[in-house]
Amino acid sequence: MKTYLVTGGAGFIGSNFIHYMFRKHGNDIRIINVDALTYAGNLGNLKDVEGIENYTFVKADIRNKEEIEKVFKDNDIDYVVNFAAESHVDRSIVNPEIFVETNVLGTLIMLNCAKDAWEQEDGSFKEGKKFLHVSTDEVYGSLDNLTDFFYETTPYSPHSPYSASKASSDFLVKAYVDTYKFPAVITNCSNNYGPYQFPEKLIPLIINNALQGKELPVYGDGKNIRDWLYVDDHCKGIDMVLEGGRIGEKYNIGGHNEKQNIEIIHIILDTLKEILPDSDPRKANVSEELIRFVADRKGHDRRYAIAPDKIKAELGWEPETFFAEGIKKTVKWYLENQEWMTEVTSGDYQKYYDKMYSDR
Ligand code: NAD
Ligand code: DAU
Repeated sequence: MKTYLVTGGAGFIGSNFIHYMFRKHGNDIRIINVDALTYAGNLGNLKDVEGIENYTFVKADIRNKEEIEKVFKDNDIDYVVNFAAESHVDRSIVNPEIFVETNVLGTLIMLNCAKDAWEQEDGSFKEGKKFLHVSTDEVYGSLDNLTDFFYETTPYSPHSPYSASKASSDFLVKAYVDTYKFPAVITNCSNNYGPYQFPEKLIPLIINNALQGKELPVYGDGKNIRDWLYVDDHCKGIDMVLEGGRIGEKYNIGGHNEKQNIEIIHIILDTLKEILPDSDPRKANVSEELIRFVADRKGHDRRYAIAPDKIKAELGWEPETFFAEGIKKTVKWYLENQEWMTEVTSGDYQKYYDKMYSDR
C-alpha cells in the first residue's frame, strides 16, 4: 500500500485530489494531508473523507522543518504531492514576502525532509519513492501570438511575484534532481476550476457576486485568455505522473480550452439563468448589467495556453470533462453548497474584498 503525503490538501486542488484518489483507489492507498490551514485551507472541504480509516490530517507548516521532519519520522512516505502554496496572483502583488517564504522556502524544506528520509548511505534513494511538485503554467510567462503554446521546453519567464516564486521552487526541485539524483517530477498545469475553489479566484467570485447582485469586476479589457481545466482532470494527470512519469521530467497539463475572461463571465451568467428555477429569488439578481470593467491587474499576463502533447504521448492522459459540462457541474455545485460559500466569505473575506476592489 502506497502512503501519500499531500501538502496543501485542505485547499482547492489538494482537497479535490484527496477526493479523487479515494474515489479511484479506495482503501488501497493511505493519505496524510499536511496543511497549515491558512485563509485558503478549509477542513470543510474534506468532510466526506474525514471518516476514512486511511486518511489522516496533520496541521503543520511546510516552512517549519521540525514539523515536517516529524511527519516523515512518523510515517514511511512513498509519494509526496506538494500542493501547499500561496496561490493568488493579486495577493502576491500586494504582499510578495509570504509567497517567497511559503512557495520557495517551504518547498526547499519539503525537499530536504524528503531527501533525509529517502536517501541511503551510498547516496542513492530508496526504491519507489517520488516527489511530485505541483506547479503552474504561469512560470512560462505570457503568450502574445495566438498560435504559440507553452511546451515543457519553453523558457521560464515569470512576471508576477507569485509566478516568480513558483518558478524559483521549480528550479530548486530541478536542482535536487540534477545534484542529488533526487526522485522528483514537476507538473505545470493551466487554470483549474471546479468545487471548493476559494472565491478570490475569477470563477467562484463571479458566481458568488452574480447571485448577490453585486458588481462583476473585469480587469482591463476582459480579453486576457486563460486555458481552463476541470480540476478532476488535473488530479487524474497528477495520479498518472506519480505512477508513470519519468524521474527528473516535467509534464504540462492542460486541455486546450482557451477562453477570454469576458467570455467566462457571460457563460457563468447564462448558466446561472439556465439552472436557477424561476422561484429562486437570486435569479432576479443575475444580469449582464452587473459587469464592470475595472483597473487592470499590474503586470497582467495576456494569454496562457498549454501544449499537453508530452503527457498525452507518454502517459495517455486526456481531459475527460468538456468545458460546457464542467462549468455546469461547477455552477450547480456552488448553488447546492451555499453554506460552504457563506462560511468561507465570513471572517476576513470582506476585508480582503474591500481592499482589492473598493477603489479599483
Ligand atoms: P489554494 O490556495 O486553494 O490552497 C493552498 C493550500 O495550501 C491551502 O490549503 C493552504 O492552507 C495551504 N498552505 C498554504 N501555506 C502553507 C504552508 N506554509 N504550510 C502548509 N500548508 C500551506 O491553492 P490551489 O489553487 O489549490 O493550488 C494548489 C497548488 O496548485 C499550488 O501550488 C498552485 O501553485 C498550483 N496550481 C494551481 C492552479 C489553479 O488554477 N488553482 C493551477 C496550476 C497550479
Ligand atoms: O494558470 C494557472 C494559475 O491560475 C494558477 O497558478 C494560480 O494559482 C491561479 O490562481 C490562477 O491564476 P490566474 O491569475 O489566472 O487566476 P484568477 O482566477 O485570479 O484570474 C483569472 C483571470 O481573470 C485573470 O486574467 C485575471 C482575471 N480576473 C480575476 C479576478 C479575481 C478578473 O478579471 N477579475 C477578478 O476579479
